[in-house]
Amino acid sequence: MRILKHLFENNQQWAEAITAKEPQFFKHLSEQQTPQYLWIGCADSRVPANQIVGLLPGELFVHRNVANQVIHTDLNCLSVIQFAVDVLHVRHIIVCGHYQCGGVKAALQNERHGLVDNWLRHLQDVHKKYQTAFRKLDDPHRQCDLLCELNVIEQVMNVCHTTIVQDAWQRGQSLTVHGWIYGLHNGLLQDLNVCITHLSELNPMLEKAVSHVISSI
Ligand code: CO
Repeated sequence: MRILKHLFENNQQWAEAITAKEPQFFKHLSEQQTPQYLWIGCADSRVPANQIVGLLPGELFVHRNVANQVIHTDLNCLSVIQFAVDVLHVRHIIVCGHYQCGGVKAALQNERHGLVDNWLRHLQDVHKKYQTAFRKLDDPHRQCDLLCELNVIEQVMNVCHTTIVQDAWQRGQSLTVHGWIYGLHNGLLQDLNVCITHLSELNPMLEKAVSHVISSI
């Protein structure tokens, strides 16, 4: 390799360390994957899915994009959800946002960044939906954190509204959708009290989660 040699060296050390502990690890993993969880998170380099929850390769199916969004027409994200639910039979879908998300900040600042602005537009819709709550906050830092939390709740709702998840519940498949948020400043996860196991729980639980978030302003 001409460049990035250190990454190949890191890789070799990593693979050797795992094999030293468990010689058949990669052989077994290459034959099948049976993850229990689908993680939908932000692309931010500071939010590495597996490390945060201490899971090994093979244990977490992952989709990441700017500001952990689940857009109804995003075939990429929908395909990941469909494969995870219908083929891998994951039992949990975790939407995990993080405080001080750059995508969320950019959406609040209304500055032009290029193509990504179209993607961030969805966050601005969430901001608009809850604008009354935002009027109570002057501090841009706190506004950003509020939108990070509300965005997670909205994306959980979007996951639950997909035909994939609704069909899974309809046929009695065990599937729970969670909304979590991660603190860049302390490395800790926080549950936003969204944990939906059935369509009937969706609206009451989301309403409760939204009012909890807004009342803690
Ligand atoms: Co982010």
